[in-house]
Amino acid sequence: MNIRRASQSDLTTIFELEKKCFNDPYPMELLIMLQSLYPELFLVAECNNVIVGYVASVIRTDGFGHIVSLCVDPEYRRRGIGKQLMTKVEELMKKLFNVCLYRLEVRVSNFIAIMLYESIGYRIQARIPRYYSNGEDAYLMIKDVC
Ligand SMILES: CC(C)(COP(=O)(O)OP(=O)(O)OC[C@H]1O[C@@H](n2cnc3c(N)ncnc32)[C@H](O)[C@@H]1OP(=O)(O)O)[C@@H](O)C(=O)NCCC(=O)NCCS
Repeated sequence: MNIRRASQSDLTTIFELEKKCFNDPYPMELLIMLQSLYPELFLVAECNNVIVGYVASVIRTDGFGHIVSLCVDPEYRRRGIGKQLMTKVEELMKKLFNVCLYRLEVRVSNFIAIMLYESIGYRIQARIPRYYSNGEDAYLMIKDVC
């Protein structure tokens, strides 16, 4: 498994993966924007030259590194790929932008993702009512390694 920066030409594949992973996938326009804003923080995981996961992050004006999206192809889950993508993007945020405070939002029902985030040091900071378009609440999770 190899982790590298995504290129513009990967975005169509990433959009297909996004649709496979989420009931309410991000639109292609958002992926294009994320990749152009912080190309250093938009990473793909590849197995045998096939994209099997991605993570996209931005640096917020309040100084937080914000993990905006993470997903792994269902056929490649539970092999440590999600964890490695998270670790790598956090390392890059620290190295390139001197950012050591990270945040993300996750559906309160997404136990698997919550377990992953807790296993790498994120803690639930707040519950955000009706954060998602279907009315579901989100947990705001924070990791502070400063
Ligand atoms: C969440 C997701 C990215 C995890 O990816 P993954 O590559 O399978 O995760 P990893 O193999 O790195 O797992 C890391 C840890 O997360 C937890 N975890 C992951 N999958 C789990 C499962 N099915 N059951 C229980 N714990 C699980 C475990 O603690 C695991 O560590 P361990 O394998 O040493 O026990 C993946 O399930 C996914 O794409 N889900 C759909 C999209 C999504 O929900 N994204 C997050 C939105 S906020």
